[in-house]
Amino acid sequence: MRGRIPGEWEQLEARCAQCQACELGRTRTKPVFGVGRQDSPVLFVGEGPGQQEDLTGEPFVGAAGKLLDDMLSIIDLGRDNCYIANVVKCRPPGNRDPREEEQAACVGYLYEQIRLIQPKIIVCLGRIAAGVLIRKDFRITREHGQWTRINGIWYTALYHPSALLRDLNRRPETFLDLLSLRDKVKEVCPELYQ
Ligand code: URA
Repeated sequence: MRGRIPGEWEQLEARCAQCQACELGRTRTKPVFGVGRQDSPVLFVGEGPGQQEDLTGEPFVGAAGKLLDDMLSIIDLGRDNCYIANVVKCRPPGNRDPREEEQAACVGYLYEQIRLIQPKIIVCLGRIAAGVLIRKDFRITREHGQWTRINGIWYTALYHPSALLRDLNRRPETFLDLLSLRDKVKEVCPELYQ
């Protein structure tokens, strides 16, 4: 893939599989590196694996994952033509938010994934991903659906699917955000719809 050293992706994934850089490494079952097309122009980033993801090693396979699949179908995408990753690769026990030090210990894997994938659009799922990738003080309630361009990549944030499962009132706004995302994907990556 464009400008990649052969084996770089596999080495990164192997390093992640052995990682003990924070406490989450001790309690995880499987690290969840990510899934999808490694050269996709569209990257989705969640916060960290939950229980089902920890058991299977795949992101967004639980109830939130089912909703994410529905969100993808609204923008005419599937798991096979985008890439899905998380800020932290190991499950925070009890589904708590990943701590600052855990995010700091892990985010290098995500930065490397971004460098290798070279996405044109990054969609942050929830405030934690948006706080890491867009701006530390990002306010998801006020700023979801907005677009910002950083170093040539378009970024937006949606409510996290788990938040949408808890609070149905957020779904109409998210539907509008998804229409905006679909327009942006059609504009920036028309090849995905051919
Ligand atoms: N929530 C996330 O943020 N990521 C997953 O992989 C699953 C649930």
